[in-house]
Amino acid sequence: MNQTSLHRMLASNKPDNPEKANLKELFDLRLSTNLSIIQNLFLSLYPEATLQNSFPLLLELLPELYKKRPENLKIQDLRRLKHANWYQSEKMVGMQLYVDHFNKNLKGLETKIGYFEKLGVNLLHIMPVTTRPKGENDGGYAVNSYTQVDKKYGSKADLLNLTKKLRSKNMHLMMDFVVNHTSDEFPWAKKAMAGDKKYQDYYYTYPDRKLPDEFESSLPEVFPQTSPGNFTFNTKMNRWVMTVFNDYQWDLNYTNPMVFMDMLTNLVELANLGVDVIRFDALAFLWKKLGTNSQNLPEAHSLVTLFRMCLQVVAPGVVLLAEAIVSPQEIIKYFGEGINKGNECEIAYNATLMALLWNSIATKKTHLLYKNLMNLPSKPIEGTWINYIRCHDDIGLSFDDRYIYEVGWDASSHRKFLLDYYCQKLDWSPAMGQVFMYNPKNGDGRITGSAASLLGLEKGLDQNDEELIKLAVNKILMLHAIILSYGGIPMIYAGDEIGTLNDYSYLKNKDLKEDNRWANRPKQDWKTVAGLDKIDTPQTQIFHSLKKLIRIRRNTPVFADINNLLLHPTPNAHIFMFERRNNSDEDVLVICNFDEKLHMIDTAGVASKGYVAGGKLKDLVLGESITLKSSLLEINPYQILWLSKS
Ligand code: GLC
Repeated sequence: MNQTSLHRMLASNKPDNPEKANLKELFDLRLSTNLSIIQNLFLSLYPEATLQNSFPLLLELLPELYKKRPENLKIQDLRRLKHANWYQSEKMVGMQLYVDHFNKNLKGLETKIGYFEKLGVNLLHIMPVTTRPKGENDGGYAVNSYTQVDKKYGSKADLLNLTKKLRSKNMHLMMDFVVNHTSDEFPWAKKAMAGDKKYQDYYYTYPDRKLPDEFESSLPEVFPQTSPGNFTFNTKMNRWVMTVFNDYQWDLNYTNPMVFMDMLTNLVELANLGVDVIRFDALAFLWKKLGTNSQNLPEAHSLVTLFRMCLQVVAPGVVLLAEAIVSPQEIIKYFGEGINKGNECEIAYNATLMALLWNSIATKKTHLLYKNLMNLPSKPIEGTWINYIRCHDDIGLSFDDRYIYEVGWDASSHRKFLLDYYCQKLDWSPAMGQVFMYNPKNGDGRITGSAASLLGLEKGLDQNDEELIKLAVNKILMLHAIILSYGGIPMIYAGDEIGTLNDYSYLKNKDLKEDNRWANRPKQDWKTVAGLDKIDTPQTQIFHSLKKLIRIRRNTPVFADINNLLLHPTPNAHIFMFERRNNSDEDVLVICNFDEKLHMIDTAGVASKGYVAGGKLKDLVLGESITLKSSLLEINPYQILWLSKS
């Protein structure tokens, strides 16, 4: 049994009223439940730790951190333990947004809560709002602080008001914990630059190129075009410092136990603001080792598990999301493996589904999608996905080469095809994306652009091509309907609900122009929103259809994620079919057509799954009963069916 299940079991034995609970006693119970795991993980990472007395320091730190957690959140934690699957519920629907691009600042965001309610969104992922360097700052992912709100967004009081308001409406907030690096203006970095040896050891700093060169021989480059290499020479410190992302983002040195403890303090302070889901940014990079690519190392997993086991003691109602945009076989490990299965992150991005949906749109085929999904090990029962189509980052093509070969394609030509298809190298393609960080050394590249532009809406509108527009709208809706029904939290990227196109204004900003991810970080188009109930445009159609799909999802309990997904490969290479099954009348069979042509599905296959009762089915999407005239069921181009047994 993993620790989550254990805590839930212990909580279920406790009296029903969390307000009357003995909080200190329950903290002690949680600490003793996790203590041996915490100790084992800590000592495996820091074998010298007992000698240096740092493990006792951790034991002193945990109760101190708990003392600082506000009473109402402590009580909420207990409630959450009793309703432990809240983050897997069909009611969860998320939206990711930049606060300033959405509506100016935190106060402005608060005034738009009604918009989220109208759409049916109850989880907000707000992008970083803490202090950061002026000028380039990687959209706030170069942090000057973990909890101090940047003036541009308002104040800490505004953030606290927002979390309070969301709580009162039973809505949830997700924020980032930039766990791998700080900015070069972070207080620790400043002290390191001033010559403080203690803080030089908080980062990977070196007097000469010897170790940096050794590291470089096996480290890949994350931003090869704008920030080649993994080390930067700092003239103030007169030392090299590891900077895997941008040269102003210094990698934290977790081989130093004090870094872990200070970061744990930062993590809990963030949780104490009332954040419900904490996104562990770039966590695959947390541990560096010479001779390796320093990604997904076992020690990185131990470290994340250690953070989680400590957080579970201090703030058990808060859950962690793994931002590991890595290969499918590696992503799944962030739920925890072996004896730690279920002890790492509760949630992970389903980057595999995301990338392969884009692959299926470009190829109009689903066999590679199936192959990858079918070969994934199962996730733990308490784990769930964030299912998404687009986010603020690029689309990486990090699925396995071997499956590309197995479906009969050459892996490097296929990846080149995808880049060409999405990035305007093929005249017939409707996509208007851009290549991100092309690396001529190995031919790797990623894709940027908004969902609507990548799916043909921009080109369709430019060319006034009704057919292209219609196809684009259907593709946008089909992909969203997939993430709404797949199992996990659907995370809509703000703007996609109204078909927002690429925003090219970043090209005029000297701090942003080198990073074309900004094409997909547009300002929320409130003019379009104002017309939602007045005019009929592709954008308003998208909004209203999506709103309806969300409402259906939230009223369909089988869409809650309890590992009840069954993939149903079909002989038709254009069809994607899966089922959400609880073995009840509520079961739903999802069928989508990735082709521009109408297809027929032989209902013999569908019937065997119990979906044909006297030739009748119900499509929840259209709210219509389908009476089969023959054994063939028709599915239109880019249509999605949510079939229940009527
Ligand atoms: C994550 C963020 C990305 C950022 C990187 C470095 O991948 O999503 O936007 O550039 O981390 O912090």
